[in-house]
Amino acid sequence: MALDITPAVLAYVPPDAPLEQFEPARDRAFFADPNKTSLLAGASSAEDLTPYIGTELKGIQVSQLTDAQRDELALLRGVVFFRDQDITLELQHALAAHYGKQDRDPNQQDPRHVTILGHDFNIRAKDQAGAAYHGDHSYEVNPPSYTLLRMIRTPESGGDTIFTSQVALFDKLSPTFQKTFEGLYGIHSSQKSYLASINGGGKPHRAPIVTEHPLVRTHPVTHLKSLNYNPLFVTGIKGLNDKESFHILNFLYDHLHAADDLTVRWKWTPGSIAFWDNRAVVHRAVPGGYDPSTREGKRTAVFGERPFFDPSTSESLTERKERLGKERLNVEGKLNGKVVNGAHLNGNQMLDFDKLNVV
Ligand SMILES: [Fe+2]
Repeated sequence: MALDITPAVLAYVPPDAPLEQFEPARDRAFFADPNKTSLLAGASSAEDLTPYIGTELKGIQVSQLTDAQRDELALLRGVVFFRDQDITLELQHALAAHYGKQDRDPNQQDPRHVTILGHDFNIRAKDQAGAAYHGDHSYEVNPPSYTLLRMIRTPESGGDTIFTSQVALFDKLSPTFQKTFEGLYGIHSSQKSYLASINGGGKPHRAPIVTEHPLVRTHPVTHLKSLNYNPLFVTGIKGLNDKESFHILNFLYDHLHAADDLTVRWKWTPGSIAFWDNRAVVHRAVPGGYDPSTREGKRTAVFGERPFFDPSTSESLTERKERLGKERLNVEGKLNGKVVNGAHLNGNQMLDFDKLNVV
C-alpha cells in the first residue's frame, strides 16, 4: 500500500539537509498602492466570482505586469484568476522571484517549479489523500506564501481546483471556538506524503518533518486572523489527549467541507492561471473522470514567514468590518458626511478591507 514502510522506503536516503528557519524579505504587498490603481487600470474588468473568495481579472497579461502591478497583485488576497495567458516558463520563474525566495516542495525535482499532473484515482478509497484540501507543503518551517499555477493542458472537463478561504473559515466560528482555537497548535507532518512519494517511485529530496504551527495565524500584511488547518498535513493538535485531538480534527474537517459559501471552484482552460496566497486559503484538485495525461501545469511559489499568531495586532474579518464601519462613521461625522477612503488606518498597516479582497 502507498503508505507502508516498504524496503524501498527503508533503503531511501534523501539527498538534501532539512531546511533552516529564515526571515523572508519584506512582503511585496507592503510596497503596493492600496488602491491598486496600476493593476486595475491595466485590466478590462475585475470580477469577484463569489462573495468571499476568488477574483477574475480580464484583459491583462501577467507577462506584462510592471513591478508596481506585481506588488498590487499581492494585495488581491485569497486567489486571483486569469485566462488566455501568454507567459513563458522563464517569465513565470522571474515573476515568482519578484515575491521572494524560491520555494521548493520536497517532491519537486526542478528547483524552480513543480509540474502538476492529472489524477484519476478514487478519492473515496483509503489513503487517497492526494485530493484532500491543503496548503502547499504546510509542514515546512517557512511554508509557501504567494503561489502561481499555470495550466498548459487541461481536459475538456474535470481537473478543477477548489479554493476555500481560511480567513472566512475562522470568521464563521463562534466566538467561543475562536478563542479556544487561538491558543492551540496544529501538528503538520510530511510523513505520509514522504511514504506515498517513495512507494510511487518518487525521489523526495528532504527527509520527512513534523512541525508545530499555530492553529490560528495572523497574516503579516492584513493582520487578519485565519484558520491554519488542512486535512492533508495536519495530523494532530499539540498538547491534547488523543481523543480530544481526534474530535477537534473531525470538527475542523466538517467545518471546512461544509463551507460551500466560502469556496470558489475554478475550471481550467489552457493558458489559465491561479495566483493565490497559501497563508489565506486552502485548495484541492478534484481528481477522476478524465484522462490524467491531458492535464499539466507548472507551479511556482515563494517561501513565506514562519506562521505566527499575534492577538494584540490581529482581528477577525467581522471585527475588521465592524471596526472600519465605526471608524468610517466617526470620520464621516467629522467631515460632515464626506466619505473618506483612508488607505492606512493605523500604524500597524491594517489595510482597508474594502479595497483588498482579502479573503
Ligand atoms: Fe496544492
